[in-house]
Amino acid sequence: MTHPIIKLDHIDVTFHQKKRTIQAVKDTSIHINPGDIYGIVGYSGAGKSTLVRVVNLLQVPTAGQITVDGDLLFDQGKIQLTAEGLRQKRRQIGMIFQHFNLMNQKTARENVAFALKHADMTKEEKEAKVQALLEKVGLAERAENYPSQLSGGQKQRVAIARALANDPKILISDESTSALDPKTTKEILGLLQELNRDLGLTVVLITHEMQIVKDIANRVAVMQDGQLIEEGSVLDIFSNPKNDLTQDFITTATGIDEALVKIYRQNIVKNLPEDSILVHLKYSGATTDTAIVNDLYKSFGVSANILFGNIEILDTTPVGELVGILSGSPEQLQAAKEGLAAANVAIKVLKGGE
Ligand SMILES: Nc1ncnc2c1ncn2[C@@H]1O[C@H](COP(=O)(O)OP(=O)(O)OP(=O)(O)O)[C@@H](O)[C@H]1O
Ligand SMILES: [Mg+2]
Repeated sequence: MTHPIIKLDHIDVTFHQKKRTIQAVKDTSIHINPGDIYGIVGYSGAGKSTLVRVVNLLQVPTAGQITVDGDLLFDQGKIQLTAEGLRQKRRQIGMIFQHFNLMNQKTARENVAFALKHADMTKEEKEAKVQALLEKVGLAERAENYPSQLSGGQKQRVAIARALANDPKILISDESTSALDPKTTKEILGLLQELNRDLGLTVVLITHEMQIVKDIANRVAVMQDGQLIEEGSVLDIFSNPKNDLTQDFITTATGIDEALVKIYRQNIVKNLPEDSILVHLKYSGATTDTAIVNDLYKSFGVSANILFGNIEILDTTPVGELVGILSGSPEQLQAAKEGLAAANVAIKVLKGGE
């Protein structure tokens, strides 16, 4: 059995302001395994940043237990490490942010080197390390540039190189692509994936975009009002979301929302024939669109007119969605619905068949 590299148990974070108290995180537990790319999604104010700042005690919780890589950091209301122990631990946890947080008066190279200020290395070793890090993030040729001379994507690469300077086991990314365009976002996510694969880096990825989770994470937690409302493998969550909020995040990620708007505008759907129903089918694994359509006709005599189809590869498993019109007698349609359900195809009737 693998042991979680990050173990937060029953974490509370309460902020006291003049007139009110804010419970930013409420009795929240989260376990992240080594090598995971773990997505945390939620709307603004859900408590995502507060929760991950607890991991390296940038935010000291009000209550709960924190264990990172086998070491107990916080328990019974107290930090369990010495100041030096905590400093060392923090070096094992790299962080990157939306606004990069680079020093504007320093070059890319100097920004990265700054993270090695206290490292136990010779000057030459440090120089070699910084060069290797800049190469790793694909920025060696811009090493002498200042942040103002770099694009957003390049600045984030500098920040990633800096975050990796002390060979962390964990990299926390708090909305690190929110300020970037879609193409640059993909490039940065690709880099995080590469680091996860090549260095075995555990990545904790905070975002409000399920698309990003879908692209690179293997597990995901959904946060609302300071609590985790759903947690699981990306495949499970996408193929079988239990919570309405999770469903909301997913529909925006798969594009099905937009597709449905267009589908409902089509004449064939507006004037749906008596013998027809509009359905949404969802399946994962070996089943394919063609197999479904063929089977419906062969086994049940039901014809299918596919209006929308989408297949995603989630953590190596294909997950498909179809929206289409099924036509047949009421008995045939009923048999087809049961047949699909038996074949593990989730079916939802969107219109018709009353
Ligand atoms: N230092 C603080 N003092 C007081 N309240 C705080 C502090 N930090 C966060 N909060 C409050 O805690 C709640 C959670 O904030 P947090 O920043 O963790 O949310 P988030 O999910 O990261 O949101 P976003 O997506 O906007 O970054 C919010 O209501 C916020 O106003
Ligand atoms: Mg935040």
